[in-house]
Amino acid sequence: MIKKCLFPAAGYGTRFLPATKSMPKEMMPVVNKPLIEYGVEEAIDAGMDGMCIVTGRGKHSIMDHFDKNYELEHQISGTNKEELLVDIREVIDSANFTYIRQREMKGLGHAILTGRELVGDEPFAVVLADDLCVNEGDGVLAQMVSLFKQFRCSIVAVQEVPEDETHKYGVISGEMIKDNIFRVEDMVEKPEKGKAPSNLAIIGRYILTPDIFELIEGTEPGKGGEIQITDALLKQAKSGCVLAYKFKGHRFDCGSVEGYIEATNYCYENLYLKDDKVSTLGKQATQKSQK
Ligand code: UTP
Repeated sequence: MIKKCLFPAAGYGTRFLPATKSMPKEMMPVVNKPLIEYGVEEAIDAGMDGMCIVTGRGKHSIMDHFDKNYELEHQISGTNKEELLVDIREVIDSANFTYIRQREMKGLGHAILTGRELVGDEPFAVVLADDLCVNEGDGVLAQMVSLFKQFRCSIVAVQEVPEDETHKYGVISGEMIKDNIFRVEDMVEKPEKGKAPSNLAIIGRYILTPDIFELIEGTEPGKGGEIQITDALLKQAKSGCVLAYKFKGHRFDCGSVEGYIEATNYCYENLYLKDDKVSTLGKQATQKSQK
């Protein structure tokens, strides 16, 4: 039902400088896989097959990653190293990748509006690849798609954060209509300390209905001079319905050094070491180095 997933990936990633000076933040590896590949896998698991990526200057490696590399593949063909490409080959074969460039970085709302050409007039998902989400059961997007089937309106994923961290996020307040589901009444982008309407912070997973595009078009630059998706969503919430969903699973803020390290440790222990298919070679190397 929701077939397309938009990946705004044009930002500068300044919190991770100097690593992101010439490398896209979305291509930073968590263990042996770039962040954006985790996001694409989550979207495929949620039934999507159209990956719409908003890029910018210096982001070519994202396009190269989701394409064949004939030279490399020829080089390792017939060796046991081919196993390491199993996952990415499956990803490339399962989805169609389209790209558009955001010429000026005017904020997340503007990046989403830039993706309109690729998304068209249908409900779609948004993944911010630097928020890495993992869950033992359904992924966060799959959970949100089930909810969308029931409610047919925009949905934002939220998590409870400590009070002294609310100023880093868009924060919602609203009425709880079911376990873990809130009808949004208010939404504030990066509230000043002590002024957050709750401790429910929006993370990088959204499902949006296409009327959001016109609402973004009518949105003036807000916090930080950027066109904020939260401002457009608040209009949508006031004129119709927006839900906030407290998802099941872990989310790591890989745009920050601390979150990135946590994600790496978690994925190494819980995904990499348990994955028989892909990491055989890596595991052999690890075992050798531990001897
Ligand atoms: P962030 O603010 O987290 O990303 O934007 P950033 O600007 O790249 O990172 P810092 O804060 O400077 O370290 C959230 C998401 O929106 C995208 C970013 O790529 C990121 O995935 N984004 C942001 C755009 O695509 N375009 C923009 O103009 C702004």
